[in-house]
Amino acid sequence: MTFTQKHLLGIEQLRPEEITSVLDLADEYVDLSRRDVKHSDALTGLTQVNMFFENSTRTQASFELAGKRLGADVMNMSMQASSIKKGETLIDTAMTLNAMHPDLLVVRHPHSGAVDLLSQKVNCAVLNAGDGRHEHPTQALLDALTIRRAKGRIQRLNIAICGDVAHSRVARSNVILLNKMENRVRLIGPPTLVPGHFADMGCEIYDDMEEGLKDVDVVMMLRLQKERMDGGFIPSEREYYHRYGLDADKLAHAKPDAIVMHPGPMNRGVEIDGEIADDINRSVIQEQVEMGVAVRAAAMDLLARNLRAARAPETAEV
Ligand code: NCD
Repeated sequence: MTFTQKHLLGIEQLRPEEITSVLDLADEYVDLSRRDVKHSDALTGLTQVNMFFENSTRTQASFELAGKRLGADVMNMSMQASSIKKGETLIDTAMTLNAMHPDLLVVRHPHSGAVDLLSQKVNCAVLNAGDGRHEHPTQALLDALTIRRAKGRIQRLNIAICGDVAHSRVARSNVILLNKMENRVRLIGPPTLVPGHFADMGCEIYDDMEEGLKDVDVVMMLRLQKERMDGGFIPSEREYYHRYGLDADKLAHAKPDAIVMHPGPMNRGVEIDGEIADDINRSVIQEQVEMGVAVRAAAMDLLARNLRAARAPETAEV
């Protein structure tokens, strides 16, 4: 296994062989999760704290489940109810938590860069569970694992990422990962939602779904992130669905065996037709959720190994 990171802050920091190490170990954790007895002792004795400053269903649940299956003591901090509401800064909260000796800190925050900043103030491993529009590394890793298991590889594929790219940390982390693994990435959406600078990252940009989906292996849909929009990015949801919502007619332009993905939560009838989302022959949306637990287990396991190795000399001196 090659994985030399102290934190998992973004895909940007990972080398291709580190990405492969996470995916290989995650494959083993998929097997663990499918057994009757789902326990391992990879994180036994360690304390995992989940700090979510933004709402989350699947990301928080899968980090919690992964930690418990690996034997960690897991605590969920309810950040809505915390001292943050009383005006405490992010750093003060982090320092307070740090004094309780956590080993793994999982953080989601609405501001890009907040998780990096926090990682510089604490002495445990920090995992970014999504920071603003910046990165969501475990989502890109679970998407890569889902693709690798469906297509047999995570190289040399044509992958379309469609919709609200501008507000999406999922899209950003995926573009970085898929580029590192030498895939061809197309971004499809209205010009208001697909920033031109992605062309500098080697992406092909389309504003027409039928053209952009032609012969792709993977169709990745994104949620319209209304909470991050402060103006008129789209004329109306109806119009948006008509032009960019994934339905059977548009999907017919992709390869016949193309898979359909969505990170969730989905807006059915806005970016995706409910029937396509539920079509077990095309959609791998449920697999993505399953892979989420395995990838988070693998990431925490690898970080914990590095944490223990870094601490080992201190222990030896005592
Ligand atoms: C994504 C997120 O929070 O960035 N969701 C997730 O982690 N499953 C995408 C989204 O909110 O649309």
